[in-house]
Amino acid sequence: MSEKEQQPAQITLDGTTYSLPVIVGTENEKAIDITKLRDQTGYITLDSGYKNTGATTSAVTFLDGEEGILRYRGYPIEQLAEKSTFTEVSYLLVYGKLPTKTELDKFNSDISRHTLVHEDMKRFYEAYPSKAHPMGVVASVVCSLSTFYPENNKTKRTSAEIDLTVHRVLAKFPTIAAWAYKNSIGHPIMYPKNSHNYVENFLYMMFANPSEEYEIDPVVANALDKLLILHADHEQNCSASTVRMVGSSKANLYASIAAGTIALWGPLHGGANQEVIEMLDMIHEDGGNVDKWVEKAKDKNDSFRLMGFGHRVYKNFDPRAKIIKQACDQLLNKLGVHDDILEIAKKLEEVALRDPYFVERKLYPNVDFYSGIIYRAMGIPTEMFTVMFALGRLPGWIAQWKEMIANGEPIGRPRQIYVGEGLRDYVNIGDRV
Ligand code: SDX
Repeated sequence: MSEKEQQPAQITLDGTTYSLPVIVGTENEKAIDITKLRDQTGYITLDSGYKNTGATTSAVTFLDGEEGILRYRGYPIEQLAEKSTFTEVSYLLVYGKLPTKTELDKFNSDISRHTLVHEDMKRFYEAYPSKAHPMGVVASVVCSLSTFYPENNKTKRTSAEIDLTVHRVLAKFPTIAAWAYKNSIGHPIMYPKNSHNYVENFLYMMFANPSEEYEIDPVVANALDKLLILHADHEQNCSASTVRMVGSSKANLYASIAAGTIALWGPLHGGANQEVIEMLDMIHEDGGNVDKWVEKAKDKNDSFRLMGFGHRVYKNFDPRAKIIKQACDQLLNKLGVHDDILEIAKKLEEVALRDPYFVERKLYPNVDFYSGIIYRAMGIPTEMFTVMFALGRLPGWIAQWKEMIANGEPIGRPRQIYVGEGLRDYVNIGDRV
């Protein structure tokens, strides 16, 4: 990581001027390094939501919110989405380079050897109510993997042990996710078939059943592969930061991934893709009056928000949303599927991007705005949309966790400014008013 040095920052506090180092990243992003601020000055900084605070340096993903740039390990997302595959991008994110054919073949075969989960894990699914949200099931079952591989709880792990766990997580997550779906509809689970590639195997476990042959549709498989690539990492977002935070206490990778899955569930984060479809369905059922709902989204007294719009970092278009929108049109045309809500989504985008409220706040469609329409066209139920997001984000979470461990980063423990009561003595219950 090239951290170019430059003139230190000066800060004057209580009449004393302090110098703080400034670091400059590969793409000329600049940061004031406050690692020693409290020791030097007694002050800390405050930044609710970390809108201005970097938690780490990282070589995994670069994004520029103003320019709508997203690169995994330096490679533009547009090129990877067009030319790569999800397991190749997973290798790139986790190991930092594009694999040779030999390396990719071995990676794919290493993963395919671990697609089964312990038979005892089937009992977990029987315990959940059929209406259980699959995110709650998947997060719990992924965390439970750590109970079947207790050796993972060692704090010192060799790179071979870490690699084995990486293969297991990547291999078993699709199985766990597909089984959550099958259980929710009362259908028999389908065991992975390793003659399929990664994405085909997932579709097989989701939609095949023992009573008939299941044909993988290459159009669907290619579209899903592209979607997973587009979700694979996004630097220090809420769920990736959660994975790093949990991993920083030396918790194992299964537990860290489960924590990231739970963080992603929130409707402001990965849960937005489910919320978008529910919102579009609601607008459709309401007669498709897009202008009415855009006005509601602008009204501060109305809790309605345009889900799938806005982003903490992208203050220009989200490059992923552009690619997904194109893929949406292509897939629905190829499948001969017409979905009224795609037209509603496009109309919403058109109206909002002309409206000063959205333009002034730089609110554009994000990765979640169109993705649900594609998942629905594939036959994936709405409640599984965020599970799909987690499946795509898996290699990114793993890469972030590995980097944090490799860099020997300390346990994450933010400070605070206390604003509660001052010192006071205990009052016996009989004397309280
Ligand atoms: C993801 O971080 C990542 O990289 C995440 C992600 C990834 O790949 O990991 O990209 C995936 O999580 C995408 C975002 C999915 N979430 C949604 O689509 C939910 C809807 N969007 C918002 O809730 C919101 O835009 C956030 C949460 C995404 C970002 O919130 P911020 O950065 O904290 O911004 P904010 O809530 O302070 O909003 C700034 C202004 C406010 O208005 P004012 O107070 O300035 O008047 O914009 C308004 C907000 O009210 N606003 C919206 C809006 N989003 C922001 N108004 C209407 N509809 C919206 N969707």
